[in-house]
Amino acid sequence: MTGTVYLVGAGPGDPGLLTLKGKMLLELAEVVIYDALVSPPILAMINPQAERVFVGKYRGWHSLPQAQITELLVTKAREYQTVVRLKAGDPFIFGRGGEEEAGLQEAGIAVQVVPGISAGLAVGFPLTHRQVSSSVVLVTGHEAVEKSEASVNWAALAQGADTLVIYMGMHRLAQITAALMRGGRAGETPVCVVQWGTWPQERRLFGTLATIHDLVTQAGFTAPAMVVVGEVVRLQRL
Ligand SMILES: C[S@@+](CC[C@H](N)C(=O)[O-])C[C@H]1O[C@@H](n2cnc3c(N)ncnc32)[C@H](O)[C@@H]1O
Repeated sequence: MTGTVYLVGAGPGDPGLLTLKGKMLLELAEVVIYDALVSPPILAMINPQAERVFVGKYRGWHSLPQAQITELLVTKAREYQTVVRLKAGDPFIFGRGGEEEAGLQEAGIAVQVVPGISAGLAVGFPLTHRQVSSSVVLVTGHEAVEKSEASVNWAALAQGADTLVIYMGMHRLAQITAALMRGGRAGETPVCVVQWGTWPQERRLFGTLATIHDLVTQAGFTAPAMVVVGEVVRLQRL
């Protein structure tokens, strides 16, 4: 009999932000297949007898291609009853959880999803606020390379949403901020970059659309970081 694959969101990093269901599954797991950005205290909760497989990506070391990760999950589900696929944040927010779920279903493997707190929701700002923000968009700054045409319309987002929460935006920060300004968003719009949000080494950098790229370069901020754009950023500075 094949087992079940649980796609578990580990949350942003602080172990206190993992769900109770996620923790229970880590304790019961026979194998855990995990990504980069899952924090050490969360990895420490894994059943000590469980097999662990790291499939993430670090600088200079490429992750397994997505098709191979899905294949690995299918193989493990034929071997074990409780397979945990542990992902940073939420599996369905820029986490390829949808692709893995579809691949498993196609192979006839049972899948259950345990949501996690996405890093963009743990930045410590009210992303909506009755006075300053009625809308929020979670957007990637790094679209899948295999896509032939970009689908993020930065000019439309510049005017179409009050708060923008940009994942994976650090490498293209100069282009993204320029596109937002070209699209009509004021250069004075406040921006905050949150690096390693909720981890002990969390750092924050405040600027504006016009200044943030230079500030990030000067301060040496790198991924993983979340870029929050909008008037809500002022609320935290008060
Ligand atoms: C592949 S995406 C995974 C997102 C994840 N599924 C989620 O819901 O948070 C990785 C990106 O998420 C952001 N990220 C994840 N964890 C973060 C953290 N603790 N602090 C800041 N950014 C984080 C960064 O932009 C990073 O490049």
